[in-house]
Amino acid sequence: MKLTLKHLRRVGAIAAAAATAGLLLTSGQAPAQQPGKIKIGLMLPYTGTFAALGTSITNAFKLAIAENGGKLGGREIEYFTVDDESDPAKAPDNANKLIKRDQVDVLVGTVHSGVALAMAKLARDNNTLLIIPNAGADEITGPLCAANVFRTSFSNSQMGIAMGKVMAEQTKKTAVTLTWKYAAGDESVGGFKEAFEAGGGKVLKEMSLPFPQVEFQSYLTEIAALKPDVVYVFFAGGGAVKFVKDYAAAGLNKTIPLVGAGFLTDGTLDAQGDAAQGLLTTLHYGDGLNIPKNNAFRAAYTKAYTTAPDVYAVQGYDAAQLLIAGVNAVKGDMSKRAELVKAMEVAKLDSPRGSLALNKGHNPIHDIYLRKVEGKENKVISVAVKNLTDPPRGCKL
Ligand code: PHB
Repeated sequence: MKLTLKHLRRVGAIAAAAATAGLLLTSGQAPAQQPGKIKIGLMLPYTGTFAALGTSITNAFKLAIAENGGKLGGREIEYFTVDDESDPAKAPDNANKLIKRDQVDVLVGTVHSGVALAMAKLARDNNTLLIIPNAGADEITGPLCAANVFRTSFSNSQMGIAMGKVMAEQTKKTAVTLTWKYAAGDESVGGFKEAFEAGGGKVLKEMSLPFPQVEFQSYLTEIAALKPDVVYVFFAGGGAVKFVKDYAAAGLNKTIPLVGAGFLTDGTLDAQGDAAQGLLTTLHYGDGLNIPKNNAFRAAYTKAYTTAPDVYAVQGYDAAQLLIAGVNAVKGDMSKRAELVKAMEVAKLDSPRGSLALNKGHNPIHDIYLRKVEGKENKVISVAVKNLTDPPRGCKL
């Protein structure tokens, strides 16, 4: 979905109202210490299999900023946007457009782990502040962690660990895994295997295909022959829609339970329809989480964009909330980097997902929910892992 004039007008109206409220609240505060606008570089996919994910993140990021009066630390904002096409080969050029050409104060992106790994390297080399609103590459907040790199989403292994634990607890004995062959899929499946086998299960076969291919037939044939107790997959966006439909069309949903990282069914249910009913997934968010922040967020997002938010929107919203915490702490003075980073590190965000804090590597500590698809909703049925954080993984901060 593209940002239409109607959407922007709505966000503009919210911004105006919030600005008035903000003026009342902040009058008497010291003025911003740096002139000009704060430049925000959005590097996200707006085309390809992850296009809808990039749009959700962008929409919710802008919503949170609008709710903050349309400003950061008292300063106006200017957005610079690049479509990264989820293409790692183009990532250095794309990131450099924002870092070197546009000289952004902060880079926000992206969805695809391979692209994010390249962004994190450039952010480190140029000491650019980077906030990752999706891509889960474990290394970024592990051995490659950096003072200027933050993530408001998850790390890839987290969802796999949670589902591996749940499936072992449900006394499933054998599993087959299938994913796209790149960091996100490998790490998601790696987490599943680790937890499932620690709980007494056995992964019979790990299968993969190149990103973003969607020719699943030969893998479905193999799954039918292997007859595992459960199939665990990592797919997202357009690929997740196709996989869930193909799995059902092959009749496998009647015989072998399909489970996955929650991206399999988030933002995709309208397109998946009946094929998704009953699927179990693990994720740090669920549509119907009955907490005040989630209810308010869902109402505001739906009003602004006339469509329901998904997990990507939550992560984009939290990326902006984290930035707001940092920039407000230095009253808009981006040169006070150490102070700004400190404020982001200690921030306790009121996230639609529930409480959100960051670990030493700047990666979320959050609850991972077990969800079940019921109608058009990913319904939370339990907390699979409470306050999940990553092991230190060699981060030296
Ligand atoms: C990733 O590449 O890290 C990734 C992409 C899409 C998702 C989740 C993770 O939904």
